[in-house]
Amino acid sequence: MAPGRKPKVSSRTTANQVAGKVANIAQKSPESVALPTEVQQMVLDTFRRAFHPDGGYDVKAAIQQVKGHLFLRDFAAAFAKQEYLEAYALRWSASRALGYSDIFLHGDLQEVWLGGATSNTTSHEPSTPSATTVACIGGGGGAEVAACAVAARLYSLSKVVVHAIDIADWSSCLTQLENAMSTPPQLSAYASERAKVANKPLIMLDHFEVRFSQRDILSVDEKALRDMLGGVGICTMMFTLNELFTTSISRTTRFLLALTDVMQVGSWLLVVDSPGSYSEVKLGQGQDTRTKQYPMKWLLDHTLLEAAGGENSKWKKYVSDDSRWFRLSPSLKYPIELENMRYQIHLYQRIAEVS
Ligand SMILES: C[S@@+](CC[C@H](N)C(=O)[O-])C[C@H]1O[C@@H](n2cnc3c(N)ncnc32)[C@H](O)[C@@H]1O
Repeated sequence: MAPGRKPKVSSRTTANQVAGKVANIAQKSPESVALPTEVQQMVLDTFRRAFHPDGGYDVKAAIQQVKGHLFLRDFAAAFAKQEYLEAYALRWSASRALGYSDIFLHGDLQEVWLGGATSNTTSHEPSTPSATTVACIGGGGGAEVAACAVAARLYSLSKVVVHAIDIADWSSCLTQLENAMSTPPQLSAYASERAKVANKPLIMLDHFEVRFSQRDILSVDEKALRDMLGGVGICTMMFTLNELFTTSISRTTRFLLALTDVMQVGSWLLVVDSPGSYSEVKLGQGQDTRTKQYPMKWLLDHTLLEAAGGENSKWKKYVSDDSRWFRLSPSLKYPIELENMRYQIHLYQRIAEVS
């Protein structure tokens, strides 16, 4: 659907009607691949090296300021300065990177990585026929990028191209992260030969590529959306979709319908967010104004499974879980407090329309 077309969101469609469309959610998944603690520690070390907690500014103060802006939902202020971006990446992206790695290695996502997540064309030439191409909307903070590097490493993928798309300017943070991911940590001059041989980076750059576009995803036109998402195998929205719905339910619905039009058959859409997220819309006018709350999951299912195609749904839902946990191992070492992650997860595959 063209971004200009008005999406149909009917509050009359009940959760049950939508649930009826959720066909064949995978009952049995392959075994999850374990996320070894040493790889988790490598990821944390990578964030520490990329964003220097002991660098030239007061990291703890910056984290507190970012926390304050996030609490007030003032995202523009939270991501307004380079030191805020670095503080965010250190404090939040590092533990999320571990949580997302765990999600990517979970049995119910293996098909996404091991079968069919490649593309024939990518948004930016030259095309890489055998690359696994991932677009991460709201992925500027680097958590998804690092998790994709872990997936590339543990699934032994020959090439992964990750395109982070974000409204804030994360370009230098992502360059710093990419450099840290692809450079082995510095060893002491007295390190043993064995330690030197074992000292490898998280990822080799000939297997991994990071791209970044600073874009308000709710404002891009259909051509730009097609350029960014038309050829990808996987599109992720991690802790971002509810923020988009909160900005505007109608614009986000329109964006999801446009995304449905541009994503290729066989590609995957992964949405992870806080459990129980909801957005409010104002209904009526003047004295009759009232608000109605829509759960994010309902809005998402309604848009993808009802509005985008109706009887001829263009998406098949594979995974839907309202609450999962990722818990950090107490043996991990990091200079800043890390957080366990509780989340809801929804995975869809774009399917061919039945004519
Ligand atoms: C809560 S943060 C989540 C960051 C990251 N995905 C994670 O899980 O750690 C939301 C991200 O979405 C981005 N964002 C918000 N609105 C956006 C929009 N309209 N277009 C693109 N990115 C947006 C923010 O800049 C921020 O990086």
